[in-house]
Amino acid sequence: MEGQEKQVTGYLLFSLATAVIGSLQFGYNTGVINAPEQKLRSFFNNTWVERYGEAISPGVCTIVWSVAVAIFSVGGMVGSFSVGVMADRFGRRRSMFLVNSLAVIGGLLMGFSTICSSYEMVIAGRLVIGLFCGLFTGLTPMYVGEVSPTPLRGAFGTLHQLGVVVGILIAQVFGLESLLGSDKLWPLLLALTVAPAVLQCILLPFCPESPRFLLINLKQEDQARKALVRLRGSEDVSKDLQEMKEESAKMAMEKKVTIPELFRSPLYRQPLLVAVMLQLSQQLSGINAVFYYSTGIFETAGVKQPIYATIGAGVVNTVFTVVSLFLVEKAGRRTLHLLGLGGMAVSALIMTVSLLLKDIAAMSYVAITAVMLFVAMFEMGPGPIPWFIVAELFSQGPRPAAMAVAGCCNWTANFLVGMSFPKLVEWCGPWVFLIFTAFLIFFFIFTFIKVPETKGKTFDEIARSFSSAPPPTSSSAEDPPASASTAVKFPTSPIKE
Ligand code: GLC
Repeated sequence: MEGQEKQVTGYLLFSLATAVIGSLQFGYNTGVINAPEQKLRSFFNNTWVERYGEAISPGVCTIVWSVAVAIFSVGGMVGSFSVGVMADRFGRRRSMFLVNSLAVIGGLLMGFSTICSSYEMVIAGRLVIGLFCGLFTGLTPMYVGEVSPTPLRGAFGTLHQLGVVVGILIAQVFGLESLLGSDKLWPLLLALTVAPAVLQCILLPFCPESPRFLLINLKQEDQARKALVRLRGSEDVSKDLQEMKEESAKMAMEKKVTIPELFRSPLYRQPLLVAVMLQLSQQLSGINAVFYYSTGIFETAGVKQPIYATIGAGVVNTVFTVVSLFLVEKAGRRTLHLLGLGGMAVSALIMTVSLLLKDIAAMSYVAITAVMLFVAMFEMGPGPIPWFIVAELFSQGPRPAAMAVAGCCNWTANFLVGMSFPKLVEWCGPWVFLIFTAFLIFFFIFTFIKVPETKGKTFDEIARSFSSAPPPTSSSAEDPPASASTAVKFPTSPIKE
């Protein structure tokens, strides 16, 4: 497949851009709650005074605040877990369309919370928005992986993360006091998520359903061909169709894979382990300790206007995601993931030193540099790769179930880091980032030993590399045998690039 032409059409880019609105929403809602913390706290207090005639106690206020923040991840866990059932039942495109109704409900609940004097509406809104984002962290990478030409699947897969980071950056900027982060306007800041949802619903009808879903799940070859012709901008889509048919023939032998079957079948054990570990490596790297609490970290390090340093981190985050987008098809997933994890471990060490020596004035600059480096290294690999590699590691049958399990692990780890970090800081003080260094080293070793390279391989070639089974007899002439150099081998020893 390495030699296959890189067919990029305006229509493909339009379809990808439409799907990536979902990623933008995930990023926006991840970042949006940071800036208006104090406004929300005083809103909780005002409501309390209105209802009970007395001020809310600081303890209760913190509980309401923490619940409003954390319930987003709980919604995310449930949403990501439901993605397989939805994607198979309604298709990829219709699922995205339907899921947007959650953004409208959640956005309106939060937007009208002050008018209705109800902080419960903020909490309910955050839960619904979490569900919405959880579903999109599965649906977008799945759709993008399925419509992209094989040689560009990694580069386009990175678009999901690019959407996420741009969403975070928009939320950070809009959250400034002088924009929507003010006393009056914060409900609008939270409700703004409705606008991209409506936009995506307008654009989706012009996008194709995933050709893989049409052919493999619905057996509609004509429709699949039509979608492919438009996406690739060429009448000759026989190569793509042939590849999908092979996958389909193989699937006819397996039955539909449910989540319990995914765990039971020895066939999926290795790719599932890799998928889950990569998701855990993303979250246990500590990235969200930075994204949720960077302002506090910068304050500790003596930075004067920490909000601008936070926005700076958002910019670095975006720039390096673009760098990764251009590198991922050249350097490969495995190499970039290793580079990212290793770089983050070193940055975490530097951060620890700067926090330990914070009495030395210059250390605030070292701390800022270390945070920026940490974020940059994250986006080289651990940010984008886990999201799209799951779609690559599994064929059409188990893919939705695998995306559900992997997504749910990601959200659970995200929740755990988000909830425990403030306590960990209390316990460990400036040593706290060493916990992440330990995780990073562990995941570096795991990736080195266990993660195969998937660059340039068809879904079928990747799936085959995980099983010891010989290649199917239906293989076309161009299809190399599993033992040929193009097929990824599951490494028992590290692969040299
Ligand atoms: C990834 C993570 C998300 C994190 C973001 C930061 O998308 O899944 O939790 O906030 O990267 O860029």
